[in-house]
Amino acid sequence: MKSIVIYVSKRGTTKESAEKIGNAIKADVIDVNEVKRVNLREYDKVIIGSYLYAGMIPGKMKKFISKNIELLKSKSVNFFVMGVGKPNEMLEIFKKQLPKELLDSDTMISHFGGELRMEKMNFLERFIIKKIQEKEQFNCGINEDAIKEFINGVI
Ligand SMILES: Cc1cc2nc3c(=O)[nH]c(=O)nc-3n(C[C@H](O)[C@H](O)[C@H](O)COP(=O)(O)O)c2cc1C
Repeated sequence: MKSIVIYVSKRGTTKESAEKIGNAIKADVIDVNEVKRVNLREYDKVIIGSYLYAGMIPGKMKKFISKNIELLKSKSVNFFVMGVGKPNEMLEIFKKQLPKELLDSDTMISHFGGELRMEKMNFLERFIIKKIQEKEQFNCGINEDAIKEFINGVI
């Protein structure tokens, strides 16, 4: 059984979670921007990790999924999402953007939390975050237990 974790990450939290899973289950780990370098047909299990940005899965990840949908349908695919919104709400928002064909009763979709790395944001991003923070509270922090549970589920 060969596995691969494909992630999209802007400031590193999704990448770090992808690497934790990759190390634990001995899977290859690759940035979605580099995915053309691998032959996806070689893998039995695919894990897709994404952060949310303004409620959306980043375009590059969405494009990857839709472009490879037929191939992905033939594999075991599980997902994780990172973000600082309320876990249950985030899972719903994330799930709605995934193609139904990839979801069945065995599909795992987990939320690992998120971090706001202000030092890595540009001016506009910092501004947006500060504005939202005036009205809403973010749930910052990585949920290591959720990562462990996910790993146990995909092994
Ligand atoms: C401009 C901006 C918009 C964001 N929008 C959302 C959002 O809609 N929902 C959410 O849960 N998290 C949101 N986040 C938080 C990120 O998803 C979170 O910081 C995540 O850990 C980033 O992953 P990365 O470090 O791999 O880039 C946003 C962050 C920024 C900077």
